[in-house]
Amino acid sequence: MDTKIYTVNDLPQAAKEIQNGNLVSFPTETVYGLGADATNEVAVKSVYAAKGRPSDNPLIVHVDSIKMVEKYAQPLSEAAKKLISTFWPGPLTIIFKLKPGSLSKAVTGGLDTAAFRNPNNKVTLELIKEAGVPIVGPSANTSGKPSPTTAQHVYHDLKGKIAGILDDGTSKFGVESTVLDMSTDTPAILRPGAVTSDDISKIIGPVLDEHHKVAKNEVPKAPGMKYKHYAPNAQVYIIDHEDDWSDALVWASKQNSPVGMMATDSRIAEFSIPDNVETFSLGQDVNSASHLLFAGLRHFDDESEVKSILTQSFDANGIGEAYMNRLNKSAGQTHFTK
Ligand code: TXA
Ligand code: MG
Repeated sequence: MDTKIYTVNDLPQAAKEIQNGNLVSFPTETVYGLGADATNEVAVKSVYAAKGRPSDNPLIVHVDSIKMVEKYAQPLSEAAKKLISTFWPGPLTIIFKLKPGSLSKAVTGGLDTAAFRNPNNKVTLELIKEAGVPIVGPSANTSGKPSPTTAQHVYHDLKGKIAGILDDGTSKFGVESTVLDMSTDTPAILRPGAVTSDDISKIIGPVLDEHHKVAKNEVPKAPGMKYKHYAPNAQVYIIDHEDDWSDALVWASKQNSPVGMMATDSRIAEFSIPDNVETFSLGQDVNSASHLLFAGLRHFDDESEVKSILTQSFDANGIGEAYMNRLNKSAGQTHFTK
């Protein structure tokens, strides 16, 4: 299959492909998604095949309006409506109980709930409208690899496997949406993202931080949380403290293979960098670092021979919580120790 790169002008063609049951990658403000008609079971199944994704890991349903949610979900609570009017369109995915049988098991992984998201990207909202159906979309990467934040990343992973990619430049946030479960009595965050638990509790009161359970080896509520994720070919090491960098760089200088270093400009400028260390700038702060994390991991996979990547940590507050969540997974919880 010849994978086309679509521009905004090709939107009608991209929508046609979705209606015909084919796969089109779409841009969002978080990462690129791998789109298929959510109401077409065969098309949805082919999403799992293209990504190599385990079939018990449910997909997010992308909608153009609250009306589209109400078609499939049970009546929304007042709290849910408040969240929607505050954060949509935007990087908040909300899980609702479904009207029985309203969406295929291929979408829900057999659960009686589904995750809905109204992405803040004009082209994609237009695509959903034009296709006239909700569009399922996991991140458009090969399962287990870092999520794609450019059309080129998607092309790298999925060329020949999908009909096309709607190119709308670099994703703004670079980490996937916050996933909030509203199908239970107390709302719970299953995956941290740019909309933080503080942002949410300001609107609806207390929320549980369910994603911390994963670190404690309890059964995760979002099936996706149990799988290996965001892992480049090289081993990622988290540098927990600023003071550890000089030891880490001494360690790096003694390695026989090249070593990657992902850190802010100021951190990189602070040290004399050994010859075998290749740097990738995470910009100025935690915001740029979140935006660039996946791109950096992909850079080392594709354009270098590094076997290890030393990566800067940030305080797990605000967007830093999402950054550290993704970094921990890509490192398989491996921290640099002297
Ligand atoms: O930013 C994003 O959310 C991107 C863009 C493309 O929208 N999408 C994305 O999808 O990250 P994906 O499939 O890579 O991650 C969806 C996560 C998975 O961890 C999955 O297990 C969880 O959401 N999930 C989906 N439906 C669920 C449900 N009904 N109950 C619990 N977890 C669910
Ligand atoms: Mg993903």
